[in-house]
Amino acid sequence: MVDNVSQNPEEFLSTPLSKVPCNSELSADVYVKIGDKFIKFKEKGDLIPEEKYNYFISMNVKELFVAKNEIEAFQEAVEEQKKEEIEAIVEEVGEENRPIVELQADIKESVYEAFMDEELSSETVDILKNQVTEFINIIKDKNPSADIFAKISSMNNTIAEHSMNVANLSLLFGMSTGQTHTLVLENLYMGALFHDYGKAKIPTAVMEKPKSVAYAKAITEHPLLGVDMLKKNPQINKQVLSIVAEHHEQFAGVGFPKGMTGDAIYGLSKIVSIANIFDNVCMENRRNKATMYKTAIKVLEYDKGKQFDPELLPRILDAIKLGYGNYHRDRAKKAE
Ligand SMILES: [Fe+2]
Repeated sequence: MVDNVSQNPEEFLSTPLSKVPCNSELSADVYVKIGDKFIKFKEKGDLIPEEKYNYFISMNVKELFVAKNEIEAFQEAVEEQKKEEIEAIVEEVGEENRPIVELQADIKESVYEAFMDEELSSETVDILKNQVTEFINIIKDKNPSADIFAKISSMNNTIAEHSMNVANLSLLFGMSTGQTHTLVLENLYMGALFHDYGKAKIPTAVMEKPKSVAYAKAITEHPLLGVDMLKKNPQINKQVLSIVAEHHEQFAGVGFPKGMTGDAIYGLSKIVSIANIFDNVCMENRRNKATMYKTAIKVLEYDKGKQFDPELLPRILDAIKLGYGNYHRDRAKKAE
């Protein structure tokens, strides 16, 4: 039996937080390391809620600790949960689309790892890029119906899983508006994955005070903060950085941080900005699964050229309606 607080590193082994699924039951007590102390964070049977993941991401926490004698069983249980989640999604999308679901699970782990790292490591970006290329090639090869994108979407509103939703939506929108080249789609997907990287690193203390001046400043600056942090990494190219910088710019010039107008905004940034708003509205309305997609579609339809490029939007709306318009998430999940 390990106490609630311990200073004895001999009692623990670490396990990567990126592998521990959000909102899933923990099979052992878990600890976080603060300074040289191990502090009990959650008990066996508890869930780690999404806001804690955002906190860990902003604090660059990437490991949990489990008592040595329990670690093996804990890691096995985590693997088992991952498999169960994959099977539940495969059941919805069909066996022929299993590779899509499995690759999404791998990408999710890499995205969490990338976000939890204090500095984005080249190794993580390399792995992620390879997974993304493979994912795009599978999608191009299988050409699945648009509802696949709704079925693989996440209901966990952590910054990492929101980013994955935005990346998948952007891929669907990109292909629906005539982008076919793998390299272009790869830039689009990577830009969407990292669009809120700067926001992820805003301290929780600031994010918790949405009426403060510090919050307003951090939000205005997050696209460029993301660019500054990401550009240190040579594998993150200029196109990806443009998407991160411009994902809050609006067609009529009232966005931020620069107030760019119309076609001065990079085409792929326009796509990601639509995907971002769509997923944000879905997440805000996710308690009502019967109408969340319809509500988000309406928000886009009402735009009339203010936020979004009026030439792109109708084609994107067609794709969303095909994929999400009649989809109702009813997959069983313990935490929902
Ligand atoms: Fe953002």
